[in-house]
Amino acid sequence: MNGRKYALVTGGSRGIGRAVCLKLSEMGFNVLINYRSNDAEAEKVLSLVRDSGGDGELMKFDVADRAAVEAAVAAWKEAHPGDYIPVLVNNAGFRRDALLVWMEDNDWNAVIDVTLKGFLNVTRCLLQDMLVSRFGRIINIASLSGIKGLPGQTNYSAAKGGLIAATKALAQEIARKKVTVNAVAPGFIATDMTSDLDESQLKKLIPAGRFGRPEEVASLVGFLASEESGYITGEVISVNGGLYT
Ligand code: NAI
Repeated sequence: MNGRKYALVTGGSRGIGRAVCLKLSEMGFNVLINYRSNDAEAEKVLSLVRDSGGDGELMKFDVADRAAVEAAVAAWKEAHPGDYIPVLVNNAGFRRDALLVWMEDNDWNAVIDVTLKGFLNVTRCLLQDMLVSRFGRIINIASLSGIKGLPGQTNYSAAKGGLIAATKALAQEIARKKVTVNAVAPGFIATDMTSDLDESQLKKLIPAGRFGRPEEVASLVGFLASEESGYITGEVISVNGGLYT
């Protein structure tokens, strides 16, 4: 199989990650669905991929755990000699909101670790092959919070703002090798992560008048993963229904 056809999606078992897995599968990618703990949900995504005529594999690891990431990628490479993973979607993430005065070290560290160390651990593992092969697409799922900051989310805003800055720096480092790095910044998207938010109130702030759907983020990720996007790098593209950032 053509090595260009593999795509790894972190946190692919639900929400935006699941929609990205399905979109990339529809585009012909063999999707490597990363997840941390929920075997049943991950299996469901793989079944959906297969039901729609695609194929993929599950890759279970915690993105914040460097040794676990390296072991999983090494095992994949051993099972696929001569192949590499040209598309990486760094999607894994979570919120642990608190006002800064009440912020516990754990709430700060856990959010920063999954977002920033997760980006480092997984990207570093796949990057060398992309550079040597002279083709790669890295897509980082950031957030509106990382652009404008949101109260109650200094940890999450710092993590996503850091991810945006890392996107811009790395893009410049590797553009000559035909590896692009871009960030997608969703606004309010209806997933488990936002299920505790009051859409009926918040939608009044959104010019489009509604939360977005995971598929509406996935379609942009699909474009950024494609060969057609080769001259776009270091960008941050919002998917937020017109929320001013
Ligand atoms: P979700 O909570 O439904 O999915 C997040 C996924 O990341 C889950 O599958 C979770 O298991 C996985 N994950 C978390 N920590 C992990 C770890 N250490 N290792 C591996 N996987 C891990 O949330 P949603 O909404 O689909 O979020 C996806 C991305 O989009 C996240 O990075 C989030 O910060 C970002 N985002 C979401 C927005 C929204 O409104 N839903 C808005 C802006 C950004």
